[in-house]
Amino acid sequence: FKVPEIVNEPMRSYAPGSPERKALQEALAQMEKELPFEVPCIVNGKEVRTGKLAKQPMPWDHANHLCTYHEADQATVASAIEGALAAKAEWEALPWNDRAAIFLKAADLVSGKYRYKLMAATILGQGKNTWQAEIDAAAELSDFLRFGVQYVEELYSIQPPKNSSGSWNRVEYRPLEGFVFAVSPFNFTAIGGNLPGAPALVANTIVWKPSPAATYSNYIVYKIFEEAGIPPGVIQFIPGPPAEVVAQVIAHPEFAALHFTGSTFVFKKLWKDIAANLDNYKSYPRIVGETGGKNFHLIHPSAEVKNAVLQTVRGAFEYQGQKCSALSRLYVPSSAWNGFKEQLLTEVAKLKVGPPQDWTNFIGPVIGRPAYDKIIGYIKKAKDAGGEVLIGGSGDDSKGYFVQPTVILTKDPKSVTMVEEIFGPVLTVYVYDDKDYEKTLELIDTSTAYGLTGSIFASDRKALIHASAKLRNAAGNVYYNEKCTGAVVGQQPFGGARASGTNDKAGSISIYYRFVSARSIKENF
Ligand code: ALA
Repeated sequence: FKVPEIVNEPMRSYAPGSPERKALQEALAQMEKELPFEVPCIVNGKEVRTGKLAKQPMPWDHANHLCTYHEADQATVASAIEGALAAKAEWEALPWNDRAAIFLKAADLVSGKYRYKLMAATILGQGKNTWQAEIDAAAELSDFLRFGVQYVEELYSIQPPKNSSGSWNRVEYRPLEGFVFAVSPFNFTAIGGNLPGAPALVANTIVWKPSPAATYSNYIVYKIFEEAGIPPGVIQFIPGPPAEVVAQVIAHPEFAALHFTGSTFVFKKLWKDIAANLDNYKSYPRIVGETGGKNFHLIHPSAEVKNAVLQTVRGAFEYQGQKCSALSRLYVPSSAWNGFKEQLLTEVAKLKVGPPQDWTNFIGPVIGRPAYDKIIGYIKKAKDAGGEVLIGGSGDDSKGYFVQPTVILTKDPKSVTMVEEIFGPVLTVYVYDDKDYEKTLELIDTSTAYGLTGSIFASDRKALIHASAKLRNAAGNVYYNEKCTGAVVGQQPFGGARASGTNDKAGSISIYYRFVSARSIKENF
């Protein structure tokens, strides 16, 4: 058995008149005609209707919802955990090649049969425009699944290099003892698939809580796993349980790992809950988390301005700034600022805001009411603190949660929107004096709690290397002359440290190590 050669899923253009545009249009029209959908919990492969109904509203049309889902209750979660534990032995006993085939098939279903349905659910439910949905639900999700198989094959092949004579040493990479709890975010359907998918690939069984704001697309992902042949009980789909039900999962003695993407606040809360339960567990739980960011672009005086401006606009405003990797603080030298500003404002003024299924809109809605209020609140705080709104600055929540792409100029590099995560289309700019370049490097490194992504723009290569060295802990993903978003599976392992997470690097071999418990065997002949 050899894993077929893996390549990144090619991106489709959706140009006017292209077959993919027509197919996506049809999928969107079909979905809009049929909604709202009903989503059950799935435990041991069976649908469970708890009757505790909740809604996933559409952020561009909040009077309507994409689906109604059955919120997991205590009894459902208890049976999900029990079923996940019961499914372990058979899942682990399945030969690796049969397990791998399920994930390769799931990838083909994502990139083929269900591509447009999954994209339509991501567009209507999470407010991504077509190209953002293509990057996420089509390309990144199939990449996670396919490259995962390659990485795990590589992991299993890592063996001790030495045997003393008459003996054989080997290492088995066994799944963790217990079950894995996956908690996934709204902002990437791909992460929805990867959080239960990665631990399942190395033979764990998973209790999966998708984000309430991504319930429908994540349900489709679950159904794809099922169609690809994942056995009942291996991934238990438990949408939207309230906090006390989550506490029940964490308190279980066989809780073996948390695979989390979401806010720093919630991650810390879960970690504290885990600590409080430590004496009850069979094993020390593995804690893997990817959380917030306050990502930067640093413009060096030697930077090529046109490229830096275009990358800045994309980094800050694609998907309304709701990527954990999104750019939100920009440092520009005073020698370049006038030209930079003019081009930046010209480009931002071109970004059309509106419903995500309208192909001409670059900016769609932000995910919901709390997000909208928080973002508008941050714009106000920035103004109150003396920040100047250069463009944007307002929103319209009458039909959907729309916020204008906003650029704020601040004189204070430690002002609130330069240091706190906003998770919306708001970019704050600090213009530094060229002679304070070294101080600016220090400022970038020390002024926020985070360490996720950052970009350095310079045409002078020595400047890139110098800044990169100075900022070595400021970002887990660093880009030279390119925006700080858009890590590609198999190309740029993704994740950061500090308050941004455990830096276990999604889309790389590292993440799979966290979900295995190795056993060394020495055999004498
Ligand atoms: N992989 C996503 C990005 O880098 C999170 O933007």
